[in-house]
Amino acid sequence: MISPLVGEMSASPTEGGRCERRNNVTLDKNPLHRYCLSVIFPAAKADPMSTDFTSPTPRPGILDIAAYVPGKEHAPGVAKVYKLSSNETPLGPSPKAIEAFQKAAAKLEIYPDGQAIELREAIASVYGLNTANLMCGNGSDELLGLLCHVYLAPGDEAIITEHGFLVYKIQIMGAGATPVTVPENDCQVTVDAILAAVTPKTKMVFLANPGNPTGTYVPVDEVRRLQAGLPKNVILVLDAAYAEYVRRNDYEAGLELVSSNQNVVMTRTFSKIHGLAALRVGWMYAPLAIIDALNRVRGPFNMNAPAIAAGSAAIRDQAFMATALEHNSLWLGKLTDAFSSLGLRVTPSVTNFVLIHFPDTDGKRAPEADEFLTRRGFILRAVRGYGLPNALRMTIGSAEANEGVIAALTEFMGRA
Ligand SMILES: Cc1ncc(COP(=O)(O)O)c(C=O)c1O
Repeated sequence: MISPLVGEMSASPTEGGRCERRNNVTLDKNPLHRYCLSVIFPAAKADPMSTDFTSPTPRPGILDIAAYVPGKEHAPGVAKVYKLSSNETPLGPSPKAIEAFQKAAAKLEIYPDGQAIELREAIASVYGLNTANLMCGNGSDELLGLLCHVYLAPGDEAIITEHGFLVYKIQIMGAGATPVTVPENDCQVTVDAILAAVTPKTKMVFLANPGNPTGTYVPVDEVRRLQAGLPKNVILVLDAAYAEYVRRNDYEAGLELVSSNQNVVMTRTFSKIHGLAALRVGWMYAPLAIIDALNRVRGPFNMNAPAIAAGSAAIRDQAFMATALEHNSLWLGKLTDAFSSLGLRVTPSVTNFVLIHFPDTDGKRAPEADEFLTRRGFILRAVRGYGLPNALRMTIGSAEANEGVIAALTEFMGRA
């Protein structure tokens, strides 16, 4: 904590500048300054003589983390590129969000509202929630990270699923805890597999619902069974980044589960259907105690002002969202049918992307399809890093992009 340091500084006697040079750094013998150093670099306090001052050293485990690799953006030498690798919307944001963003550009010298009240109120009014239970983040990624840093410590375990979103593992390991991966059943999360992995060390369970990159979902009855089977000290994180796209009667993003339990949180994003990926806007609905804990470490101005303004306008524009959903539903069906009729297996998706599995035949595998498509300007997502080496994930794009991929894969599969 910073505050004890401030108290100590005013109480301590100062001792004038006695310094010594060792290992190319100047060691300050002033006890007050040494105290400050020990707060900033705790290792120096434990044993200053043993510290390697020649290079900064990350905490144990940090260098074991495989950094996140975003979807490809470029197809070298191709004039027209269709980026279908990051589940961004082909329709862009609501014109009202763009207008709000531009208006915010007139006040860039002013700090944003650290509480993001305007955005939290907009979300609260659309979903009928209490603003006190909402926290906004610089993308839902930030909120997932905060949850790990506040609730996980070395020795703790957090459960993720076989093809789960890679950010979970990164943040769990970043907090010094251990990710425990449970198998999925042909890209479908099963509650029994998660419950079987719970130990006294388990502190968190991450469930992307729907899943990325699988596109499958866990019905609400099963999510309830999962929550009921978890110890009360285990946080169930329902990551509902793609919730707006789901059209199933037995799906719920998690609002009711959060409202009625102390150990469930739901995260959402404006990066997908709202088309604000560049602005980084996410939100979380959570019990007050969890909001309070995260607020203590959250950056005081974690949301920028244009993001707050654009997000508020976007979520209030429900008509624009409905248009985006209509486009998605139409093409989700068309693409699934088209790829299936080429003999490609498509995991049934409820999202804005499809997972396409390729034959285990020379010349027809996913890496070859990826190369073939990229040469024609269609950038899909290779998902080897998600344990799916022979599949590609395709974001549903514009009609032109979708038709282009269908034509290209028809040629690739030798059906042209
Ligand atoms: C399952 C899942 N959760 C969270 C996110 C992160 O979203 P954001 O852009 O809000 O950080 C993504 C983005 O791809 C996602 O697929």
